[in-house]
Amino acid sequence: MKTFPEKFLWGGAIAANQVEGAYQEAGKGLSTSDVQPQGVFGPVIERVTGDHGIKDVAIDFYHRYPEDITLFAEMGFSCLRVSIAWTRIFPNGDEELPNEAGLAFYDRLFDELANHGITPLVTLSHYEMPWGLVKQYDGWGSRKVIGFFERYARTVFTRYQKKVKLWLTFNEINMSLHAPMTGVGLPETSSKAQVYQAIHHQLVASALAVKACHEIVPDAKIGNMLLGGLVYPLTCKPADVFKALQENRTWQFFGDVQCRGAYPGYMKRYFRDNAIVLDITDADLAALRHTVDFISFSYYMTGCVTADEELNKQARGNILSMVPNPHLAASEWGWQIDPVGLRTLLNDLWDRYQKPLFIVENGFGAKDKVEADGTIQDDYRISYLNDHLVQVREAIEDGVEVMGYTSWGPIDLVSASKAELSKRYGFIYVDRDDNGNGSLARSRKKSFYWYKKVIASNGASLQE
Ligand code: BG6
Repeated sequence: MKTFPEKFLWGGAIAANQVEGAYQEAGKGLSTSDVQPQGVFGPVIERVTGDHGIKDVAIDFYHRYPEDITLFAEMGFSCLRVSIAWTRIFPNGDEELPNEAGLAFYDRLFDELANHGITPLVTLSHYEMPWGLVKQYDGWGSRKVIGFFERYARTVFTRYQKKVKLWLTFNEINMSLHAPMTGVGLPETSSKAQVYQAIHHQLVASALAVKACHEIVPDAKIGNMLLGGLVYPLTCKPADVFKALQENRTWQFFGDVQCRGAYPGYMKRYFRDNAIVLDITDADLAALRHTVDFISFSYYMTGCVTADEELNKQARGNILSMVPNPHLAASEWGWQIDPVGLRTLLNDLWDRYQKPLFIVENGFGAKDKVEADGTIQDDYRISYLNDHLVQVREAIEDGVEVMGYTSWGPIDLVSASKAELSKRYGFIYVDRDDNGNGSLARSRKKSFYWYKKVIASNGASLQE
């Protein structure tokens, strides 16, 4: 019988801005997510009194977390990935002192998890930052934001040092290249030089958070978080193969800096070739040497790239512009389903860094149908997750060190890219639609019972 390692962490992953709601409660300030009601690629729309956005309530996790955590515990979760909303702790971002009511909320949340024996894995910044820092300081374009982030990180490490032993710095840090407002608080019109300067500041901040975590919570582990955007060459033409190597480096670059502690040669060349001159101080270079303990990443799909410019024009894809792979089926949102790609990615990352890996997002967004008897027969989700987990097990057999697996959105939540509730990932259904109608009641889908069995059997119940 094939099972997973004994201490393998099983669970799910959620993000504050996609579940909590309560966007102005207990002193919380506005975040970049609060001013992007249409999602991470959508426009910034300044808030006015009386307006509404789907994320303002989201799935009301802020008030309903005890019920939700009880359901996660029923499935047997040993881990829950959550994020802290920076704006609950520092509402504008530049305050000297934190907001006690915000800190107290996460105390209650972590205590509830502890009551159920669930280990928290906590992201410091998941697709949001204080809007105040964007308006007053130019977001991560300003070096000052490094200091504000470090203060925030030190505050939460100190406060939760007994409760949280697994941390992540920035969610999908490589996404800044595709969604600068979400990633680094810069307008979409920013130049590449501006975006890379902001990214540099964020990479330094990430490294300083690693240093702070090691100082304040020596028995904790802190990782980075990459969007695992594996791409294949569309053909075996050498130009396509090289193009794929280059494309993969656009996201590996972040991992290279965070795991190896310095800018790789290929990025220095890219900056030279594009006349990008970054402001990098000696102190920055010293900070970057504080590398992560483990690598976490999200994995949903793969795509192809080609050196053929004509074909490139047809490139599509939700997040990354890729040419569709003719050998793979896709979800309703065009995300191509590739379980074997996950095994490849795990092996690639392990070979490249030799650091433990954590799959902190993976899942299938789909529209669910509630049957007349109230059940939800989400076999498509079961099949996606089953096939990916089989490949995780294979990668472990290949010798890859995998710490755990937290599927994305174990409970339906607001999607990041388009702020939809109809794109559901959950094992738990939430009665709310894209317009905010619904009772917010929770119910168990077929996949709930399936995942429960997978966890209880430590993976032995997976179907090859
Ligand atoms: C990742 C993000 O990009 O993918 C999550 O870290 C996000 O926040 C997830 O929700 C799935 O994307 P979407 O757009 O379907 O919500």
